[in-house]
Amino acid sequence: FLLIMSASAQFTYDLQGHRGARGLMPENTIPAMIKALDLGATTLELDLAVTKDGIVIVSHEPYMNPVICLTPEGNEIAAGDKSHNIYQMDFSEVVKYDCGSKFHSGFPKQVKFHVSKPKLLDLIDVVEKYVADMGLPKPNYNIEIKSSPDGDGTYHPAPKEFSDMVHKVLEGKLDWNRVNIQSFDFRVLQYMHQAYPKVTLAMLVETAAKPTEQLAELGFQPQIYSPYFIALNKETVDQLHQKGMKIIPWTVNTTDQMERLLEMGVDGIITDYPNLAPKR
Ligand code: G3P
Ligand code: CA
Repeated sequence: FLLIMSASAQFTYDLQGHRGARGLMPENTIPAMIKALDLGATTLELDLAVTKDGIVIVSHEPYMNPVICLTPEGNEIAAGDKSHNIYQMDFSEVVKYDCGSKFHSGFPKQVKFHVSKPKLLDLIDVVEKYVADMGLPKPNYNIEIKSSPDGDGTYHPAPKEFSDMVHKVLEGKLDWNRVNIQSFDFRVLQYMHQAYPKVTLAMLVETAAKPTEQLAELGFQPQIYSPYFIALNKETVDQLHQKGMKIIPWTVNTTDQMERLLEMGVDGIITDYPNLAPKR
């Protein structure tokens, strides 16, 4: 009975661990993903960057963020310094940075330890083995492509190139029915839509106030609408459900806010704190 219980999903909605369980573990690391799974997350949300030698890694910024990373020598990086650029260093250099030991005032409950940014493929390997060993359900992956707004390729690959790289890395690795690609950059979504029509897409938007205009700007209907949660209301949820879309807001970090959104009928919740997600 216990085995059956542990292998079945605990939540009736899509509980997404933001950057893993960022509130509890250093973000976008393998331990953060494992923590999210232990808390019942059904989807792992993560962000990508690319190294100089073409390795797709998991990182919110395309550089070593001074807020979360220490240099290979263990030194602080000056606030605002973006010069430790991932796209300009090989993976062998990337792993020398410690992005888990530094106290994060935004997430005071994060367990702190030395950890580096992982390759996407290594993260997937560890996660898939972990769920198999533990008898947990296989998770889905909500994978964000962040490309530079001006597309100049200085800090990231350009949208099209980045999309091709990510598709190539994932093809044959995971079933596409367990993956969606998300982006704020409509060029990424537009390109993926025409180049890889089988891939599920989520449009990320900073406000839920203008869904009709946003969809018109995008130019096609993706499967998922993923807005910042604040301005989302039931009318928008109903309107997009009628079109056959799912609504999965970010980043919702209190139980009350999650309850309010679930009452509106959202299909999932992206949170730094899967431990605070209401059981329903
Ligand atoms: O998935 C949505 C959310 O991750 C977008 O915000 O900046 O945390 O990537 P950000
Ligand atoms: Ca993200």
